[in-house]
Amino acid sequence: MANRPLQMTLNGQTVGPVEVPEDLPMIDYLHEYRNLTGSRLGCGQGICHACVVIVDNPDGTSEEVRTCITGAHYFEGKKIRTIEGHASRDEAGKVTELNPIQQRFVDEFAFQCSYCAPGFVNAATVLLEKLQRQPIKKSQLEAVIEDSLGHHICRCTGYVRYYSATRNVLTDLGLVKEG
Ligand code: FES
Ligand code: FES
Repeated sequence: MANRPLQMTLNGQTVGPVEVPEDLPMIDYLHEYRNLTGSRLGCGQGICHACVVIVDNPDGTSEEVRTCITGAHYFEGKKIRTIEGHASRDEAGKVTELNPIQQRFVDEFAFQCSYCAPGFVNAATVLLEKLQRQPIKKSQLEAVIEDSLGHHICRCTGYVRYYSATRNVLTDLGLVKEG
C-alpha cells in the first residue's frame, strides 16, 4: 500500500506532514506514530466506542469519531482532540488540572478498570460542549445523556456512575435549566 503525506492539528499542535500508509487506521496512527495510546482498541469493529477521538468542526461544533474503523487520512487537515489533550499541564508536562468531566468521573468513582474511560470522557465532553452552546431543560436530561453515552460499552458494567457523574457535572455547571 502506498504512503501519502498526512497533516492535522492534534491536541492544539500541528503534526506532520508525515508519510503514512493510505489504509492505516487512525488508532494505529495515534498509537504508532504519535505515541498517544489513550484511545483504546476494544472491539475494533465500530461497536464499543472505546477508541473515539473528538473532531472540532469549523462551525464550532465537536463530534466523536471512531478511530478503529476510520482511516488516518480521513483526518487530514482536521482538528483532533484525544484523551491526552483534555487536562491542563505545566511546562514540564505534568497535569495540573483535569477537565470537568475527567475530574467528576474521578470524584464519583465512575469507572472500574478504566479501559472504556477515554471513550466515555470524550463522549461526555462533546455533550458538555453541546450544552454550553445550547443548554437543555431538566426534563430532557436523561434522554440527552442516553443519546450521548448510550453507544459506549463498559465491560465492567459501570454505567450507573458514568451517567450519574455526567448528570451531576452538567447540572452543577448550570447547563440544565428547570423545566
Ligand atoms: S474499538 Fe473502535 S468501536 Fe470498539
Ligand atoms: S470500567 Fe472497565 S470496561 Fe468500563
